[in-house]
Amino acid sequence: MVKTLNLNAENNLTEKSFPVKDGARGFESQPNEYSYWIDEIEGVIPRNLQGTLFRNGAGLFEVNGQKIGHPFDGDGMVCAITFNQGRAHFRNRYVRTEGYVREQEAGKILYRGFGTQKPGGWIANLFDTNFKNTANTNVIYWGGKLWAMWEGGQPYQLIPGTLETIGQDDLDGLLKSNHPFSAHPRIKDNTFINFGVQGGVTSQTLTIFELDARGNKLKEHSHPLTGFAFLHDMLVTDNYCIFIQPPFQANGLPLLLGFKTIEQCFDFDSQQPTKIIVISRHRNYDMEILETESFFGFHHGNAWEKEGKIYLESICSHSFPKKSQAELDCTQAYFDDLCQGRLWEFELNLAEKTVTRQKILARGCEFPSVHPGWTGKEHRYLYMMVFNSSIKRGPLPAVMKLDKQSGETQRWSAAPTGFPGEPIFVPRPHSDEEDDGWIISMVYDAALHKSYLIILDAKDITKEIAKLYLKHHLPYGLHGNWTAKVFI
Ligand SMILES: [Fe+2]
Repeated sequence: MVKTLNLNAENNLTEKSFPVKDGARGFESQPNEYSYWIDEIEGVIPRNLQGTLFRNGAGLFEVNGQKIGHPFDGDGMVCAITFNQGRAHFRNRYVRTEGYVREQEAGKILYRGFGTQKPGGWIANLFDTNFKNTANTNVIYWGGKLWAMWEGGQPYQLIPGTLETIGQDDLDGLLKSNHPFSAHPRIKDNTFINFGVQGGVTSQTLTIFELDARGNKLKEHSHPLTGFAFLHDMLVTDNYCIFIQPPFQANGLPLLLGFKTIEQCFDFDSQQPTKIIVISRHRNYDMEILETESFFGFHHGNAWEKEGKIYLESICSHSFPKKSQAELDCTQAYFDDLCQGRLWEFELNLAEKTVTRQKILARGCEFPSVHPGWTGKEHRYLYMMVFNSSIKRGPLPAVMKLDKQSGETQRWSAAPTGFPGEPIFVPRPHSDEEDDGWIISMVYDAALHKSYLIILDAKDITKEIAKLYLKHHLPYGLHGNWTAKVFI
């Protein structure tokens, strides 16, 4: 059985929330590109915090005044915060994707997206399935390359020191015919594991890639999937890759005919089970599909094997968070129907084909992360963004550390006007303790309409090590990664 944590005090949420409108300006575009040493700092940057934090996210929410329909469709803007000898340098730069370059030259929207139509009604969108690769979801340095990633296409390769765009990367021919390379790789035991899903609305193919430390292919295997498979994240253990496929009903015809966006063409089906796809990393790459109660989840925490069973964590919500009206811009509509996700732990018994699950945190949460050295093995600590109250509207204002062994939690809040992004764990050099390091997160401060980087002590995240104030705001980001290399 999944163990029960004593979280009664933590789960008794009584605090007041904050006005939703405070967070809305975090969806304002940042069209400028900067490069400067950060000189407004509270606290002291640790001298042994040496390396570069890369972060990606949508930076533009319009093209020459024409608003896009969904934050997922914003052009990728990569930031690099480089730490060197107690100083920090900030740089941001747009990924020069084909779509970004063409739209900036044309001064208008030329591409459809997840929730965006080209202006001109259905005729302008008829039979157009050339969706824009925004390269806006993640950025990671691996095998000597820096990749800006988007789950529907190939990654864009950037120059780490300048963030200039080299171009789309097919990984030396590995990604044939523009095969997608997801934005949620996992790194375990110095192996880079990623996937891509290709196909239509009723049947798709899932391909898994494993790369060595130099970026060379170790494994590649494909598996047929049935139904509309919206796989955003993945999990790995020593022996398995694990995917969670929530149930959707999809109809691609209105999309093809130009009447609807992708987002409008699929609906969450709460009457159907959610599938958990378990694929062996060895021999014949056998695939098992288990079923559990219906839920949707973008992001998963960690997975591990123990005593013949597989355990995993996922942020589960009761439905897919759709924007209520496609014609409204991001600042007005996005959060109104957001389904709050909760942290659940699952136990998979492959021999008996059973799934047991248990909610371990009542507090709404997102963007879970662990020490990178604990990926795929049983861990004690989990870091994530959380709500401060049970009120579900608005961006998440706090970061939490959960001690799964003791059930204790710590929380750092940027409320009432601050909204942190994904907490990224940076290990302290030469330490092998699971919570020895720093939690770094980019915070949008609505009171200043500027952003700052917060560095927290990963052992006690209520301790602020340093706040690094940027000279401007950054829109809410998505994912990023740390590398111990100093790029400046
Ligand atoms: Fe994600």
